[in-house]
Amino acid sequence: MKPFHRVVFGDCKTMKEIPDGTIHLMVTSPPYYNAPFEYPDLFETYEEFLQLVRDLSKDLYRVMAPGRVACFVTDDMLVKGQKYPVVADVTRLMLDAGFRYRDRIVWVKPKGYVRISRRSGVVIQHPYPMYYYPDNIQESILVFQKGKFDYSYLRGLPAKELEKSRIPIDAYNGEGWALTVWNITNVLPMGQRLEKGVAAFPEEIPKRLIRLFSFHGETVLDPFLGSGTTMKVAQELGRSSWGFEIDRGLGKIIKQKLAGNSQSGWKVEFLFRRDTNRIPRSERLRSKRPSQIIAKIAR
Ligand SMILES: C[S@@+](CC[C@H](N)C(=O)[O-])C[C@H]1O[C@@H](n2cnc3c(N)ncnc32)[C@H](O)[C@@H]1O
Repeated sequence: MKPFHRVVFGDCKTMKEIPDGTIHLMVTSPPYYNAPFEYPDLFETYEEFLQLVRDLSKDLYRVMAPGRVACFVTDDMLVKGQKYPVVADVTRLMLDAGFRYRDRIVWVKPKGYVRISRRSGVVIQHPYPMYYYPDNIQESILVFQKGKFDYSYLRGLPAKELEKSRIPIDAYNGEGWALTVWNITNVLPMGQRLEKGVAAFPEEIPKRLIRLFSFHGETVLDPFLGSGTTMKVAQELGRSSWGFEIDRGLGKIIKQKLAGNSQSGWKVEFLFRRDTNRIPRSERLRSKRPSQIIAKIAR
């Protein structure tokens, strides 16, 4: 099949555009619940966030090919002094949808990276027991699988495709891909960066996952596409891709991010659904409760 890259502007709780069993790998990071910087008050309640993951996981089971892998990059979230167990809850919801829990990789960011005020400083002011709150510099990469992979699949692949899918063993050993802890610098939320306000993950994460869990020419999905990082890397690595994004305002950023890859003659198709947010991104970010705007338009 000819390679393709399709962005659907619509809610990923259903991915009706994707035929059953056609996705070979999912790599995604859902909105970080109500993260104080990027997503304050995005969801009315934590249950609303969980319902989105629940709906997605069911349709994900339909679109995934048998034996294939789905990865969530996510973390427990501290919102207004309360810690929400996102990692445990996403794991439970994926198990409930029928997936197997395969692995958890811990993504460790550089030591100097702390977004929210340094909680650990409290002990310096009050050097006594019970004042301890550590600063968080990690996220989880949760790896799930739809049943078991049939390794005889490799025998059916053209030798050329198999060769292009070979994992670079130097990087595998030298950069620590082989371990459950990955040290990778995060995308810094600075100035004029394309990904400003999107909570993008660094390209290195989809790069490793795509190489480790999909073959050249196969299809990768990111249901929370954001700025398009997964799609960009999928294209660079010779995989087709689907992306879903609810915020139409990100279309320009996605196009810009992928523009650098356009020499190879491929193009991105954009499909628009009615449940998308049509309020310009700038306006939405100024708004106090973006979820209310999204809900109004979707009705
Ligand atoms: C954490 S960001 C993803 C960032 C992405 N990994 C990147 O590198 O740019 C989550 C994205 O999910 C989008 N989103 C939130 N709810 C959604 C939904 N129901 N369907 C599709 N996209 C949604 C948000 O607009 C946001 O862009």
